[in-house]
Amino acid sequence: MKLSRRNLIKIGLLSGGVIAFSLSIRRLMQKSSSPTLRYFQASLPIPPTLEPIRRDATTDYYELTVQRNWVEFLPGRKTEIWGYNGIMPGPTIRQRGGRSPTHQRKTVLRVINKLDQDSEGEPLSLVTHLHGMASLPQYDGYTMDIVAPGFYKDYHYPNDRAASLWYHDHSMDKTSRNIQMGLAGMYIVEDDYELNLPLPKGDYDIPLILQNKRLATDGSLFRDADTQTLYGEIDLVNGAPWPRLEVANRKYRFRILNTSAARTYRLMLSRSLSETTPETLVVIGGDGGLLAEPVSVNMPTESLRVAAAERYDAIVDFARYPVGSQVFLHHVKTVTQDGVKTRQILPVMRFDVVRTANDDSSIPRQFRSLEVLKPTPTLPTRTFLFKKERGKWVINHLGWDHDRIDANPRAGATEIWVFKNPEAGRVHPVHVHLAEAQILDRNGKPPLPYERGWKDTFFLGERETIRAIVRFPSRDGQPIQGKYMMHCHNLDHEDNAMMIQFEVGHGGPDPVATAPAKLYRTTAQTNPPRKTSSHQAS
Ligand code: C2O
Ligand code: CU
Ligand code: CU
Repeated sequence: MKLSRRNLIKIGLLSGGVIAFSLSIRRLMQKSSSPTLRYFQASLPIPPTLEPIRRDATTDYYELTVQRNWVEFLPGRKTEIWGYNGIMPGPTIRQRGGRSPTHQRKTVLRVINKLDQDSEGEPLSLVTHLHGMASLPQYDGYTMDIVAPGFYKDYHYPNDRAASLWYHDHSMDKTSRNIQMGLAGMYIVEDDYELNLPLPKGDYDIPLILQNKRLATDGSLFRDADTQTLYGEIDLVNGAPWPRLEVANRKYRFRILNTSAARTYRLMLSRSLSETTPETLVVIGGDGGLLAEPVSVNMPTESLRVAAAERYDAIVDFARYPVGSQVFLHHVKTVTQDGVKTRQILPVMRFDVVRTANDDSSIPRQFRSLEVLKPTPTLPTRTFLFKKERGKWVINHLGWDHDRIDANPRAGATEIWVFKNPEAGRVHPVHVHLAEAQILDRNGKPPLPYERGWKDTFFLGERETIRAIVRFPSRDGQPIQGKYMMHCHNLDHEDNAMMIQFEVGHGGPDPVATAPAKLYRTTAQTNPPRKTSSHQAS
C-alpha cells in the first residue's frame, strides 16, 4: 500500500446511496467500528451573511475572526477546522458595488488572526486574498504579506465589478492546508443593474461552495504534503458532505464556486442517482459577473465544467419537476481503463422538490453588453509554460521567487497571455491576479459558450494552449501599478512553486511594507494558545 494512502479512508459505494468507510489502519479498526456516512443526510447549510459592523458615507466595515473550531463530519468524531468566524465555509459577504460612482460602496474588511500555532509549533500566520477583486498590491493578499497570530489587517476593496468572488487564505506554501482546513468564503458584489433584473433573489439565490476533500481515518482533514494531487473521497457543499436541499418547483439561482485543491467538477443534473438523464441548466454568469447572454447547458451531452477557483452562476428551473421529485447534482468523470473510456457518476448533492411556489422571476434574453477586448497585432504577447520539471511544478521552468519579476507589463496595458500545458494527464487552473481578462481561444478554437465573459481563472486542460487577452485596470483614473501573483490554482501545484510574479509599471506600492498587519491588542491576552487536537498522534 502506498504511504500516501495509509491514513486515508477508503470509501465504497454500497447500495441505496450508503457510503461505508472501511478503515485501513488496524489501530483504528480495533478502536472503533466503521462509521458510515450517507449521501444526502445533511441538509445544505447556507453560510450566514456577514453584516457590516459599521457604515459611513462611502464604506462598509466588516470583521472576520479566524479561529479554530470542531465540527462533526464523521458521526461521533470531531474534526478540527480553522474558519473565518469559526465556520467552514466562512460567512458570505454581500456588498453593494458596481461601476456607477453614485451607488458604489467600498469595503474595509478586518481579518483578525486568533489562531496560535500548528502541530509543528510554527505560528499560524495568515494571508487573505479576495479572488477576483482588482485590489491594490498591499490589499491583494500577497503571499508574504502575513498576519501573524494575535495580529489583524484591514483590507480595502473597491467593489467595482458585480460578480461572485471568494476570499481565501494565500499563505506561502501553506495555501492548500489552510483552505483544506476551512479558510474560504464567498464575497458577492451586487450592482443596481443586476439587482433590478428579474432573476431569482433572496432565498432563491443560493451559494453552492463545492469542495472535494480527504478525511483521515480519525476524522481530521487531510493535510499531509505527501501527495501531489489532493483528490479526496468526499464532496462537500457549503461544508456538508453530499447534502440535500428542499426546493420549491420554481427557478433558483445557484452561485457555484469550486474551492477544491484539485478537482475539476463536471456537473450534471439528473433524475437518477446512477445514470445521466436529459436535463438543462442555464449559466448566466462566470468569474467576472454576468455573461452577455444566458447559455443553456444541455445534459448529458454537455456538462458544466467548474475548475478549482472558477465561479459560475446558474439558473435551475425546478418547475419542470413535479413536487415529490428528486434531482441530483452529479460530478461526471470520464475514466480511461485499458484504453476504454467509461463515465463515472459521483453524486454531489440532491434537490428534493417539496412544494409549489409562484415564480415571478425570469431569465432575460440578454444582459448588458459585455465589453469585448479585441486583440490587435501590436499587443505585447507573453507565453507561460506550465510543467512539472525535476519534481517541481514550474512556470517557464521557474518556481516562485519574490525577488524576481517574471513579467513587467506597462501600467494600464492590454496584452495577450498564452498559457501552455504540453502534457497529458495533468491540468492547471491558471489564475492571474488583478487583470481583467477574456479567453480568445483554446487550441485555436473558441472557448466554451459559458467561458465567454470576464475571467480570472482559466482551465488549462491536457495538451492545451489558451490565449487570453488581459488588461491591467485603473483605479480613480490612475492605472494600478505594483507586484502581483500569477499561479496555478491547483493548490498543491501552487504550494510547490507553480507561481510567479509580475509587476505592472514601476514603483507601485510595496505589497508587504505599505500596510502591514497590526497587533490586535484588546483580545490578544484573553486568548491563550489552545492545545491542538490529537489528530497527529499516531
Ligand atoms: Cu484564489 Cu492567488 O488565488
Ligand atoms: Cu486571485
Ligand atoms: Cu497546476
